[in-house]
Amino acid sequence: MFRSHTCGQLRIEQVGSQVTLAGWVQRTRKLGGMTFVDLRDRYGLTQLAFDEAVNKELSDKAQKLGREYVVQVIGTVAERSSKNAKMPTGDIEIIVSELIILNVSETPPFTIEDETDGGDELRMKYRYLDLRRNAVRKNLELRNRLCFETRNYLIQKDFIETETPVLIKSTPEGARDFVVPSRMNQGEFYALPQSPQVFKQLLMVAGFDRYFQIVKCFRDEDLRADRQPEFTQIDCEMAFIEQEDILNTFEGLVKAIFKNVKGIEFSADFPRMSYADAMEFYGSDKPDIRFDMRFVDLSAIAKNRDFGVFNDAEYIGAICAENCATYTRKELDGLTEFVKRPQIGAKGLVYVRYEADGILKSSVDKFYNQDDLKVWAEKLGAKPGDLILVLSGEKDKTLKHLGELRLEMGSRMGLRNKDVFKPLWVIDFPLLEWDEDHQRFSAMHHPFTAPKPEDIGLLETNPAAVRANAYDLVINGVELGGGSIRIYDKDLQALMFKTLGFTKEKAEYQFGFLMNAFKFGAPPHGGIAFGLDRFVSLLAGLDSIRDCIAFPKNNSGRDVMIDAPSLIDDEQLKELNLIVNLPK
Ligand code: AMO
Repeated sequence: MFRSHTCGQLRIEQVGSQVTLAGWVQRTRKLGGMTFVDLRDRYGLTQLAFDEAVNKELSDKAQKLGREYVVQVIGTVAERSSKNAKMPTGDIEIIVSELIILNVSETPPFTIEDETDGGDELRMKYRYLDLRRNAVRKNLELRNRLCFETRNYLIQKDFIETETPVLIKSTPEGARDFVVPSRMNQGEFYALPQSPQVFKQLLMVAGFDRYFQIVKCFRDEDLRADRQPEFTQIDCEMAFIEQEDILNTFEGLVKAIFKNVKGIEFSADFPRMSYADAMEFYGSDKPDIRFDMRFVDLSAIAKNRDFGVFNDAEYIGAICAENCATYTRKELDGLTEFVKRPQIGAKGLVYVRYEADGILKSSVDKFYNQDDLKVWAEKLGAKPGDLILVLSGEKDKTLKHLGELRLEMGSRMGLRNKDVFKPLWVIDFPLLEWDEDHQRFSAMHHPFTAPKPEDIGLLETNPAAVRANAYDLVINGVELGGGSIRIYDKDLQALMFKTLGFTKEKAEYQFGFLMNAFKFGAPPHGGIAFGLDRFVSLLAGLDSIRDCIAFPKNNSGRDVMIDAPSLIDDEQLKELNLIVNLPK
């Protein structure tokens, strides 16, 4: 028997037992004639004790143990004289009688502690050491739990987990494909799936009725804290359903996960908001509703004076930050700088302080008197002590800028507590969005999303106005999942491809198999996919999804541990008949 117990298992009840433990040396310290070693494994830490007076040779051996040495010890469990209430095993220690060094270790490049001294790049290079840290491993344990609860819920509801291929033909999800050259089919390429979208639809045509898969997806897009080039989806599809069935089924999944993984129960239904309202009142299709601070449109009442900036603006929008009238000039300048940053791009910021004595002081006092400002304050429901912040300009842009400002104020005011979770369904997305670069419409979700039946007539006359049966689940401002009811009629699908600017030939070349399948009795169907990495990060309160992925990529898409991507042998290139031709 390699070990009788783990390093997290022994308690006062086991005092007197003979045990065998194995693990890594966390630290060694000498106190007078005693040497103490903390032994670590996945389950915890146990203190080993060596008494010079009892066995000098053994004690000397223990003193020489380096950090991260792998050892096996045999000994007796004893009650500690000075207990450590912070450690689950803190009441006991092992009086060691035998110490076997299983492996030595070089000094690790950073300390294997919750608060490590290792920088990001170093930790990624030695990710296997980073993963020895509790803080990181805990996230992966949570991930495992989330997957378990997901499978448990969905399998009970008759979903069948089905694998779909990884070497496929391009699936349009709005990003670039990663491609893989084929040796057996020279000059041809597979694409890695951006999602299993078309396969899950084909499984519905196949009569599977309810499909899910916890599946890797690959997207070659610019990376951010919540984006990885390969990430995992909880991917789902159902047949013979309407939007309402999908929302209910997956609201149930999310509630079950929160309850069983976090012990948080949502008794009420998740609120729903239309895309149009989300944009109009929060400037985002993923509003963080942990706090309100809705936008108020001042366009109709603030154009009555000589202030050119407002008079020329298409839209004037404001938010009310409660109890922030005490903001100093410096803080307000900071906010102005914030909205003017290139990433945001507003031209300026107007503020109105509603002072405690009822006087309104603004950055536009030259143009607006007390009565004017009172009208604004009333419209915003502001009271003495509040701060009103106003942005103006082109409507779409200003809404987005105001959305960023709202989030910034939410953070500054401490309204975005990571332990509070506020889910929201955003529904009724537009079917299409105008692509300025290519001067044509593209699918807002993907080309298989169904228009609302009552809007189909607009497809050929006013495509921008067509709404889709598409929905996102947003929690705390994070887009956790998204899906739609699908087109299952081949003629409507052909019309959709045409609206997206596909020629008949191109549509046939890329999606002929799907259109063909729709000729053989496709049932009405729809689905959703959740970002597993985002879900885990949200539950764990992480700043980046990297921290819940065992071996993530960095922001340049590199795995710095295995050093990928990398060059391949000339031999491999030759086999594939490929020539690499980099620009000088
Ligand atoms: P969508 O493209 O909205 O839908 O993706 C679903 C969810 O996947 C997560 N996600 C990502 N997570 C990490 N890194 C990325 N690069 C990344 N991209 C997306 C998000 C997102 O909400 N086939 C459709 C689903 C459907 O229609 O059923 C799809 O993939 O959390």
